[in-house]
Amino acid sequence: MTASFGPSYVRAIAPYIAGKPISEVAREFGLDEASIVKLASNENPLGMPDSAKNAIAQAASELGRYPDSNGFELKAALSGRYDVPAEWVTLGNGSNDILEIAAHALVEKSQSIVFSQYSFAVYALATQGVGARAIVVPALRYGHDLDAMLAAITDDTRLVFVANPNNPTGTFIEGPKLEAFLDKVPRHVVVVLDEAYTEYLPEQKRYDSIAWVRRYPNLLVSRTFSKAFGLAGLRVGFAIAQPELTDLLNRLRQPFNVNTLAQAAAIAALNDKAFLEKSATLNAQGYRLLTEAFDKLGLEYVPSDGNFVLVRVGNDAAAGNRVNLELLKQGVIVRPVGNYGLPQWLRITIGLPEENAAFLAALEKTLATA
Ligand SMILES: Cc1ncc(COP(=O)(O)O)c(C=O)c1O
Repeated sequence: MTASFGPSYVRAIAPYIAGKPISEVAREFGLDEASIVKLASNENPLGMPDSAKNAIAQAASELGRYPDSNGFELKAALSGRYDVPAEWVTLGNGSNDILEIAAHALVEKSQSIVFSQYSFAVYALATQGVGARAIVVPALRYGHDLDAMLAAITDDTRLVFVANPNNPTGTFIEGPKLEAFLDKVPRHVVVVLDEAYTEYLPEQKRYDSIAWVRRYPNLLVSRTFSKAFGLAGLRVGFAIAQPELTDLLNRLRQPFNVNTLAQAAAIAALNDKAFLEKSATLNAQGYRLLTEAFDKLGLEYVPSDGNFVLVRVGNDAAAGNRVNLELLKQGVIVRPVGNYGLPQWLRITIGLPEENAAFLAALEKTLATA
């Protein structure tokens, strides 16, 4: 008889599917790595800012020691930038870490977590990881249906995940609507507002979620250095919440969850306003280029406020797979989203102008031979 290790709810987890690495595609399709374009993981196409590279070079000499467990300097920098006490900040090994810690700190096995259909895959994973019940609320036009999410909250709900903008759909909830939602959520339910892409929002769409944190003790805002700040490989994210929540998160956080290089680079990137602006501008230009091309090709897409766009490349799962495979053969890696229940769609990360052009050329060629 084979042994079944671990709880059944852990065995039931389907592992997270990450974007295909360049080296794997090169091997599989016999391509030169240098010719491959990867638009699959919502990374910043500009790479890491020079300011962060310099900070890393300086911090490298300290690597014989453990990192600062409390992240004093990074928290001080975040505290200054977002005008909250440093005690309100929790650092994470990427914001993924924050999402996982929040689920573990706040939810028991017999309780439930509410999130939207087509929202970030890690919400389901974090829910399963604690053996809680997932209440998945049907999406509205590919985005969050906040009224339905509110109605779905039950007595045993302890956490609600909201992504704004959402991944993989790129949908955005306007500030006043979110605020009205927060006002109605019962106080025993924590809302994790995941703002991984917030730095890409144009001025007119911005809202002040940190002001809401001051008002709502049950709100936790999650942010990351992986996207607009360009530090995905270093794994740094953070949460801002009032002390009661922050204290709970810190009890479960691994003592050295953000490494020395990551802390140094994050401080530099946080202060590098020029890089952030350049990233947002490049993203807006790329978004325009891609969506204009989709319009010309007659392809449906979901309007996006992230650094990616979801495009429908066929009427069934077979068409989605075929287009994805043809793109891979041409050295273009994008993200199929069948695991999200969207098999006819592909998620394209907005790249550098030449990467976007290479993707569009490969897409046009593929569609022409359908
Ligand atoms: C909505 C959303 N939240 C969180 C994350 C996690 O990012 P990281 O762990 O790199 O901060 C991602 C990554 O793609 C995301 O799309």
